[in-house]
Amino acid sequence: MKSLVISLGGSVLVPNLSGHRIAEYAAALRQVSEKFRVFVVVGGGGEARRYIEVARSLGVDEGTCDEIGIRVTRLNAALLIAALGDSVYPRVAEDQEKALEYAVSGRIVVMGGVTPAQTTDAVSAVLAERTGADILINLTSVDGIYSADPKTDPSATRYAHLTPDRLAEIVSGSRLNAGSNTVMDAIAVKIIQRSSIPLLVLDGRKPENLPDALILGRFSGTVVSSGVNTLVLPL
Ligand code: UTP
Repeated sequence: MKSLVISLGGSVLVPNLSGHRIAEYAAALRQVSEKFRVFVVVGGGGEARRYIEVARSLGVDEGTCDEIGIRVTRLNAALLIAALGDSVYPRVAEDQEKALEYAVSGRIVVMGGVTPAQTTDAVSAVLAERTGADILINLTSVDGIYSADPKTDPSATRYAHLTPDRLAEIVSGSRLNAGSNTVMDAIAVKIIQRSSIPLLVLDGRKPENLPDALILGRFSGTVVSSGVNTLVLPL
């Protein structure tokens, strides 16, 4: 069975607690898990940013803000586990080693953040490397990687394909504070570069984009792959 690691942005899973896509994602993940071995890394979303803002306004250091963000990612992960029922290992993996251990169950494995000064994108890239994933999928609140931020720059264009080196150039200018929102964090990009893991960035605002891409091979987003490891979908 091919295996995949999904970085499920909190911004699409739980933009806020009164408007979330947890039930829809549980259904999409169950569908995908019939064909693939699935690991999911859940982000913190709007609630993490709100907690971090409050902590920062209290004069707390960035590392402590990150720890608060990590707790929120794990809370979101716990909600997803609750919705997945018997299809998932019932505990949030606290690091990649635990995720590997829980995968022995043959069920979906869910984790959140791990350590300060990174995002769940880095967590998912490390997990993809350690599990020998065939693909890393980033479900986020835009439909791919753009030449500029499409939310603020109307002339931004979407890349259909990038090499890992080009992706590294694009993210090299971004800054990483607690709760910051960059296209992908530098640690994640470094791992994608060194391990040639194919990455697919998809619009996560529509949960059906996940089975459509993986099972039907129908998607629009950005593929990041090198000549060593090109990506052909369905896998
Ligand atoms: P993310 O930035 O990964 O979640 O974590 P997100 O909001 O889902 O990101 P999108 O949706 O992809 O944009 C939230 C915050 O938690 C802390 C960081 O402060 C991060 O900004 N965090 C998360 C860590 O410090 N370490 C981790 O391993 C994960």
